[in-house]
Amino acid sequence: MPKTWSEWQTEFQIQACGAFGLYHDFVLRKKDRVELYKQPDRVAVITGGGRGIGLKIVEKLLECEMTVVMGVRNPKKAEASVSEIVDLSKTKGRLICEKLDVGSFASVREFAKSVQAKFSKIDILLNNAGIMFAPYELTEDGYESHFATNYLGHFLLTHLLLNQLKAAGKEGRNSRIVNVSSIVHLVGRINYNDINGSNNYYPATAYNQSKLAQVLFTKHLNNILREEGAHVQVHAVHPGVVDTDLFVHSSTTAVPGLKRIFFKTPEQGSRCVVYAAIAPKLEGKGGSYLSNCVRAKVHPATTDYQRCERLFKFSCDLLNIEKFGSVGK
Ligand SMILES: NC(=O)c1ccc[n+]([C@@H]2O[C@H](COP(=O)([O-])OP(=O)(O)OC[C@H]3O[C@@H](n4cnc5c(N)ncnc54)[C@H](OP(=O)(O)O)[C@@H]3O)[C@@H](O)[C@H]2O)c1
Repeated sequence: MPKTWSEWQTEFQIQACGAFGLYHDFVLRKKDRVELYKQPDRVAVITGGGRGIGLKIVEKLLECEMTVVMGVRNPKKAEASVSEIVDLSKTKGRLICEKLDVGSFASVREFAKSVQAKFSKIDILLNNAGIMFAPYELTEDGYESHFATNYLGHFLLTHLLLNQLKAAGKEGRNSRIVNVSSIVHLVGRINYNDINGSNNYYPATAYNQSKLAQVLFTKHLNNILREEGAHVQVHAVHPGVVDTDLFVHSSTTAVPGLKRIFFKTPEQGSRCVVYAAIAPKLEGKGGSYLSNCVRAKVHPATTDYQRCERLFKFSCDLLNIEKFGSVGK
């Protein structure tokens, strides 16, 4: 329950975003489609995916006959969840489940090392795992849990896998990084003076900050990859307002049936994410933020090169990264 004026303001903004998101999902429901096609030579890495939107993303990627590496906290459970919806003995896709806690830098490094050892090329990286409105908690690395899980862990993972992504991309067939962000990035603010929000913690403020960080990261990484001439493009996606366990700490759970009636299903929520990962129409169009498979309104900071660069450099400093994408740092 909000206590201060600024918490009420954040609450109001997030509800307004949710309402606008639901309206957008309804109006654009016919556009929200992805055409699946066979891509047996491709490797996709996804964080999370044992449930929610991620599980449906994995189902679609296996239908495309890809090799799918899931980075999950409980690999056995995740494999069991996938096997409930995909016949793993029959699919031409291949599933590998590896341990990953994306909120732990040590775990991200271990996971990346294991993926690097198995694959010299990675075609698609989906930064999907996330938490929302969680109570204040610092990770083992000393960062607020939304910032660490939703953003910093994925920033580090992308850095560690960038050489493999670059190796897979080629002219006319870029490899792709997809950051699963949210419409609430629109009301986010990066609080450089107190990045953990420890002076005045409010869960929605922390979530919004982490989701804005993902879009700023998307824009800047895409800019530098384009400047380098690398065959890798980066997208950010709002999957829609989707009925998943993400809302466990949200007041929407108090109204029975609300999510089931008005929200997208996880299958619908997976469409735009997979679209960003594979749609031929998006070839060479990195840097875009998509919702319902069309470009959507972004936070003004994300169109400002210097503001994107500021967060990028700040994140490199926090993670002690000297040169983004260089192995071993
Ligand atoms: N649902 C929506 O309306 C909505 C709207 C906008 C954006 N999104 C974004 O969509 C993404 C997926 O959300 P969802 O709705 O599918 O939520 P969900 O059903 O709660 O699933 C969250 C996923 O993230 C994983 N995860 C959480 N913390 C992790 C960690 N530390 N390490 C590894 N995996 C972790 C979970 O794995 P475990 O099973 O191990 O917990 C699970 O697979 C999130 O980034 C979310 O912010 C969702």
